[in-house]
Amino acid sequence: MSEKIIIFDTTLRDGEQSPGASLNVYEKLEIARQLAKLNVDVIEAGFPVSSPAQFEAVKRIADESEVIIAGLARAKEIDIKTAFDALRNAKKPRIHTFSSTSDYHILGKFGDSKYGATLEEKRKTVLKMSYDAVAYARTFCSDVEFSAEDAGRTDIGYLADIIETAIEAGATTVNIPDTVGYTFPSEYSGKIAELKRRVKNIDKAIISVHCHNDLGLAVANSISALQIGARQVECTINGIGERAGNASLEEIVMALKVRKDLCDFYTDINHTEIISTSRMVSGFTGVVVQPNKAIVGENAFAHESGIHQDGMLKNRETYEIMTPESVGVNKTKIVLGRHSGRHGLKARLIELGYHLNEDELQKAYDAFLEIADKKKEVFDEDLRTLMGDEIYRDDEKYELQYMHVNAGTGTIPTATVQIKSGEKVVQESSPGDGPVDAVFNAIERALGIKPTVESYNVRSVTSGRQALGEAIVRIREDENSYNGRGTSTDIIEASAKAYLQAINHYLVTTEKKLEVFETESV
Ligand code: KIV
Ligand code: ZN
Repeated sequence: MSEKIIIFDTTLRDGEQSPGASLNVYEKLEIARQLAKLNVDVIEAGFPVSSPAQFEAVKRIADESEVIIAGLARAKEIDIKTAFDALRNAKKPRIHTFSSTSDYHILGKFGDSKYGATLEEKRKTVLKMSYDAVAYARTFCSDVEFSAEDAGRTDIGYLADIIETAIEAGATTVNIPDTVGYTFPSEYSGKIAELKRRVKNIDKAIISVHCHNDLGLAVANSISALQIGARQVECTINGIGERAGNASLEEIVMALKVRKDLCDFYTDINHTEIISTSRMVSGFTGVVVQPNKAIVGENAFAHESGIHQDGMLKNRETYEIMTPESVGVNKTKIVLGRHSGRHGLKARLIELGYHLNEDELQKAYDAFLEIADKKKEVFDEDLRTLMGDEIYRDDEKYELQYMHVNAGTGTIPTATVQIKSGEKVVQESSPGDGPVDAVFNAIERALGIKPTVESYNVRSVTSGRQALGEAIVRIREDENSYNGRGTSTDIIEASAKAYLQAINHYLVTTEKKLEVFETESV
């Protein structure tokens, strides 16, 4: 009989740990609502103790969601208590606590002699901490998940002991993460099989898998573990996450669906919401999906060569193992224009998965009119880009009020910008190597900071000369990365907005203030 696989989505927790991909509370709420529409079983909404903003986001999601909401907590009382405080109003709360279990992690994180003089003693300390953490979490809620961090590189005997202990303490799900994406599929599934043999109470908990993609094996490893008995898989939309990311939700779900002949599993995922979810996550995080990415990449269903196109025309199955429609690719494009009105816009945005309050709708409508004036036809992709741009941003402290760029052959490009914050406006000009460099320099002069630009990309959102241009800028400051995204039919303006948004991200996250806006104007 077909068995259900539990889909645990960690886009909002592990996914948000992608370089630069920080999300604000409104964006997280929208993604959580879309994940509910996608019908995931568990949403890991964040790590509540790590910051007030994380706490707030987990709480807001827990307050309104019908889905199981998980909050991450280290094996510490303060983490667990804070996680539960955030989850208190959830209809189905889950505390997800974890300990480091590999020798690398134990020696690295528990080096202090207070945890024991030898590795053996330190392992015992971690074992006890894990038991205590799970038992403490169980005093708050009946759904407790325990993860053995870096299980992929943990000695199998010790891993079996710690998993047995966690189940004894009351863990209802036990997760075996390949934290550093190190294992091969046969090795990883071998570990799961060995745990099933060694852990005598294993049937009292669900086995979960959580694979990182450092060797590009996250999805293969996850599926190999499901085939051997794991029944929960942890994954993210677009595969985003720490370093090379996590196993991609859409790839796992569609692999299980398409190859049901090999593994008789089902998920409750609503496949036709995959594309909408992918686009929303990419829009809000600023993490671009590579064109050849399986399932959700722009080229995933494109057939370029003549032979392929001919084969497709005769019979789609010649070169297509699933239909684009099955994941929500909409072939009949709905086009809006200036005359579609607020209601038309609102209805289409709801269909695309966005829920706006009156203020947000007004902002979206103004931005929509601006685009509609310039390019007449507004496509779904334009709307998604617009939503990812600035509609939910209440942290836009520094705004681009005005920009003028002078560039051409035989002239030195120069830019002038006016940046507004509250009532104050600062104007600066600068030359540059090109118009984008000039405008970035002018922004830096106006703000009095010079972040390192880690990456800068521009693309057109739809086709045609009037297409909306989207710029994504990633900056690095104080050893962290921050993404910014800007859109406009003018790519220099899009670039300026993206750069400023990345700087806003940095300043708001670090609560830094800029001297130039703090001093009174003379
Ligand atoms: O990769 C990992 O080990 C994790 C755990 C916290 C589950 O993200
Ligand atoms: Zn992880």
